[in-house]
Amino acid sequence: MTKEISTLTPFAEDVMEGLMSENKHLPSKYFYDAKGDSLFQQIMHLDEYYLTRKELEIFETHKAAILEAINGDNEPLRIIELGAGDGLKTKVLLKYFLSQGVDFIYTPVDISGNVLEILEQNLTAEIPGLKIETYEGDYFDALKGISERPEKDIVFFLGSNVGNFSREEAEKFLSDLQKFLKAGDLLFMGVDLKKDPAIILNAYNDSQGVTREFNLNLLDRINTEMGANFDRDQFLHYPYYNPHTGECRSYLISKSEQEITFEEESVVLRAWEAIFMEISKKYDRKQLEQLAKASGFCPVQSFLDSDNWFADVLWQKEK
Ligand code: AVJ
Repeated sequence: MTKEISTLTPFAEDVMEGLMSENKHLPSKYFYDAKGDSLFQQIMHLDEYYLTRKELEIFETHKAAILEAINGDNEPLRIIELGAGDGLKTKVLLKYFLSQGVDFIYTPVDISGNVLEILEQNLTAEIPGLKIETYEGDYFDALKGISERPEKDIVFFLGSNVGNFSREEAEKFLSDLQKFLKAGDLLFMGVDLKKDPAIILNAYNDSQGVTREFNLNLLDRINTEMGANFDRDQFLHYPYYNPHTGECRSYLISKSEQEITFEEESVVLRAWEAIFMEISKKYDRKQLEQLAKASGFCPVQSFLDSDNWFADVLWQKEK
């Protein structure tokens, strides 16, 4: 008997849909279970994964200019951070803003209540006087839930999280986000830039195999949570970068024909068939300007690291 689709969890439903498609795929948003969170932490400390280091450099170097651009008029602010994680980089800005006497509330949003609890504890201990109101849930629920606020809002969407969207998905996401903002509200977004393809590819194909593990962990998660039988040794981790589209895409490729069974379904993977796992898209500055306009924002200012590898862009909702 086939299980009714409605009895499946959203996770199981997405997994089955992806594996039963002509071009098999799994959503990278499911990378982040407890093991995945800790693997991503490890990735952020790898030499080859330059993104975190570069964004931190931008915050440390340009924090005064960033504050001036965000809050030249010194109004009370609400900083809403989508996908806050461990707050390692954001901390640099929050500390600086407080030291400059800015009146703001920090609202980190995450689907993991656990992540938020740890973040709140750490930040409260480390930044006395910080006003923090966490929000557990979906990004758009959060924006809806904290709407009708008198303060000027600034949304932080850092760390090239936007890179997990294709160009079309990014435009849709940012247009939707823009609708929740008031005229004059701001978006501060971290974006990875086009650069030497070898550097990009190494960031997603690290020599210690942590990124490979990060991808395989989703198969383990499916095994555990859906009673499946993926054999991780039968998969190659294959990231590749297309300099034309700016898309770095990661695949897991089946080295042999295998039948994957679930509780009540099965899926055949042919030899050398690929499962598309993740997109990490890179932009150039022209494309970023086009993306801003297409989604209802005006670019205000961009902050780059010393190599021009990464950008944090400040955009304003059109008045
Ligand atoms: C968290 C989406 C920015 O795509 O660079 C790191 C995730 N994947 N290594 C990225 C990731 C593989 C990361 N983002």
